[in-house]
Amino acid sequence: MPADVIIGGQWGDEGKGKLVDLLAKDYSAVVRFSGGNNAGHTVINEYGKFKLHLIPSGILHSKVTCVIGNGCVIDPNILIEEIKNLKESGVAISSENLIISDKAHIILPRHIEKDLAQEKARADFKIGTTGRGIGPAYMDKVGRSGVRMESLHKWPKWSAKLGKYIKSTEKILRDILNNGENIMLEGAQGALLDIDHGSYPYVTSSNSTIGGALTGTGLIPADFRDILGVFKAYTTRVGEGPFPTEINQLDKIGKHLVEKGKEFGTTTGRERRCGWFDIESAKHSIMINGFNKIAIMKLDVLDGIEKLKVHMGDVSEGAPTSKYETITGWKESTFGITKYEDLPNNAKIYLKFLEESLNTKICIISTGPERDQTIHI
Ligand code: GDP
Ligand code: IMO
Ligand code: MG
Repeated sequence: MPADVIIGGQWGDEGKGKLVDLLAKDYSAVVRFSGGNNAGHTVINEYGKFKLHLIPSGILHSKVTCVIGNGCVIDPNILIEEIKNLKESGVAISSENLIISDKAHIILPRHIEKDLAQEKARADFKIGTTGRGIGPAYMDKVGRSGVRMESLHKWPKWSAKLGKYIKSTEKILRDILNNGENIMLEGAQGALLDIDHGSYPYVTSSNSTIGGALTGTGLIPADFRDILGVFKAYTTRVGEGPFPTEINQLDKIGKHLVEKGKEFGTTTGRERRCGWFDIESAKHSIMINGFNKIAIMKLDVLDGIEKLKVHMGDVSEGAPTSKYETITGWKESTFGITKYEDLPNNAKIYLKFLEESLNTKICIISTGPERDQTIHI
């Protein structure tokens, strides 16, 4: 049976956590394949509000096996804390439903120190990392001087708490598929933060795109069925780096997006930079990932904006200038709408415009942070 992949199409925080939680009931396993606790995935459902950093967002489903794949980097202190917090919220976690790859690399305290020191040294050219030691941990991995989870037994404090979860995960995943069951891969970050395909050097240090889903799990291309790209109905970015459609945070619309979208980072609490939807970069994400379907999240955040702009690309006649299309917005609330036909006409026009410009089917529209505030089409 197949593996379906969920990948952020922008600069992260597209709403991947909500989608994974929503869809996980149809899968036997949910697998993180890249990144570490730079990720912050928010899940809001009948059990409460959860902010997951390392543990896959399928953990709220009791029958789902959650796997932290070999492509991830793990800060054991954070993982221990996350397990403890989830257990205190009543979520059952055991070596039955949480498995950690023996080949995932460990983020050590020295990696965090180095991350912070490097950022300080970059001064005006800083990347705006999450300061979680991600870059230096991957540097050690690629430099062949990293420490993998299989060596955790050398740290009695950590292995006492995490040892039972550590297994070789490639074979476990293969057996699940051979057994006729489905696997969902949960991307972290977004395509534009990918170390190769993103806005280098303002990127993270792993492959957050489809290639990372292969190398970060040991699955093979023939296993993949759907590759679902997740986009906000607008764009956000945390940290430094180019952002062609950015709107000044002090503008009326900039403020609207930050406040209505509650655009503050799940991991660092930093205010996210906000801007219009960017067709050009979305097309790039679709191309490098092969998205065959897309989900548009946070449509409700655009409610009440009179004129919506969409960046189509740059035209270079003399000096390059950005080309925008303007689409009339809608006054009505879309918050919580669950049926496509109930959307205001102009919201439908906006969505159709995105779908046609991207030439990729929109299969899910999200109208609020909760599981059921969703339109399936
Ligand atoms: P992720 O990193 O891709 O999982 O996204 P985050 O959880 O970091 O950020 C997405 C934020 O938007 C979270 O606070 C979600 O609860 C919230 N969210 C997700 N979908 C919607 C939606 O359709 N409408 C609104 N208003 N909020 C949403
Ligand atoms: P989720 O999974 C948004 C950004 C950081 C910084 C750059 C490098 O929640 O979508 P790093 O600490 O990885 O070296 O930082 O990448 N970044 C994210 N931005 N969402 C994320 O994850 C991110 N993970 C990293 O802000 O610009
Ligand atoms: Mg996030």
